[in-house]
Amino acid sequence: MVTSNVSKTAGSLVSQWTFAGRALELESSVIRDILKVTSQPEVISFAGGLPAPELFPIEGLKKACQKVLEEIGPPALQYSLTTGVPPLRRYLAGRVSKQGFEVDEANIQVTAGSQQGLDLVGRLFLEPGSVVITEIPTYLGAIQAFNFYGAKYVSVDMDENGVLIDQLEDKVRASKPRIIYIVPNFQNPSGITLAEERRHQLVEIAKRYQVPIIEDNPYGELRYAGKEVSSIQSIGGDYVIQLQTFSKIISPGLRIGWISASKEIMALVERVKQATDLHTNTFCQYVITEFAKDGSLDRHIEELKVAYSERRQVMLDAMQEHFPEEVKWTKPEGGLFLWVELPRGMNSAQLLDKAVEKKVAYVPGSPFYAQTIGENTMRLNFSNASPEKIVEGIRRLGQVFKENLPKKS
Ligand SMILES: Cc1ncc(COP(=O)(O)O)c(C=O)c1O
Repeated sequence: MVTSNVSKTAGSLVSQWTFAGRALELESSVIRDILKVTSQPEVISFAGGLPAPELFPIEGLKKACQKVLEEIGPPALQYSLTTGVPPLRRYLAGRVSKQGFEVDEANIQVTAGSQQGLDLVGRLFLEPGSVVITEIPTYLGAIQAFNFYGAKYVSVDMDENGVLIDQLEDKVRASKPRIIYIVPNFQNPSGITLAEERRHQLVEIAKRYQVPIIEDNPYGELRYAGKEVSSIQSIGGDYVIQLQTFSKIISPGLRIGWISASKEIMALVERVKQATDLHTNTFCQYVITEFAKDGSLDRHIEELKVAYSERRQVMLDAMQEHFPEEVKWTKPEGGLFLWVELPRGMNSAQLLDKAVEKKVAYVPGSPFYAQTIGENTMRLNFSNASPEKIVEGIRRLGQVFKENLPKKS
């Protein structure tokens, strides 16, 4: 669910000019609207999906910027290839190959974050009425990106091991989707990871019904517990288009992500990207290459994992202590989020006002459903607040829940 923010007051330019219908229909993200309310400094916010700002690798990036300007110089500030600058693409090809899908730089398209990857996927595959298979709940930003192209959604339920495969196959058979969209690792919003066996079954279905899988994978590198699982792309090869990003492992403000896919598909992606923005920010691509190449990125990811793993545990322990027993939650093995389910009859959107009064905030769950359900759910982020604030915020939230539990009959 998203809200329209276009004002059509009499005399306004929007009421005088004729706009493309899709621009007026495009809706503003509920999360962005909520973040406006919750960004007052005294509110402990579990609402955003923000990495911890104090962990940004400022020193490393400072050195990398300096080196790029001194050693690469003008080409770092020049127009560059649509596909991305070659040293970064070679580096990324190495990272994707380590996951088990052997690629070279021709299999890599650099993007302005994964969000642009989603938009490019929409441009490539979707027309008004095209069906997209999604998990339920799913990433709100993907719904927003695909809505622009008139997508219709057929959603598949999940359990603690990810999408239910039999249901997925029935829905693929019945709805003839253009794409299957999956966030398989520590999913935003639920924190759930798709189990290894189901990844293989998913690929079999994609091949049987000839539908591409879009593997949206911003969190795969942030695992704090449990066993590694194979990337879907390493199982399904050319049947998979994988989107990844530096947003959660370096900084979202740099806006650099990448797509890996078969060379045949890459030729199409390149044309679509060229029409969109010519190419991604040249300077940032070189800076990331410089930062990453001597192993700094891998060391940085290890530091993030230590810090986020602690915050996740602190949040889980605080929930155990302060939440009433009627409330349930996921225990993600990585990523930035966990998912809370209140007893039926409680409405997390309505409770948000009471939570904000107590200076704590979260994102209600229903916007993450393509349908109007999930009123009793919410998403909590554990990466952005300090451990002390996490404990205090969860204590306040526990109070809000206890004060608003439905009366037992
Ligand atoms: C599942 C998912 N896909 C894509 C994105 C967009 O990330 P980026 O900052 O790389 O555009 C996010 C951001 O939170 C996300 O959670």
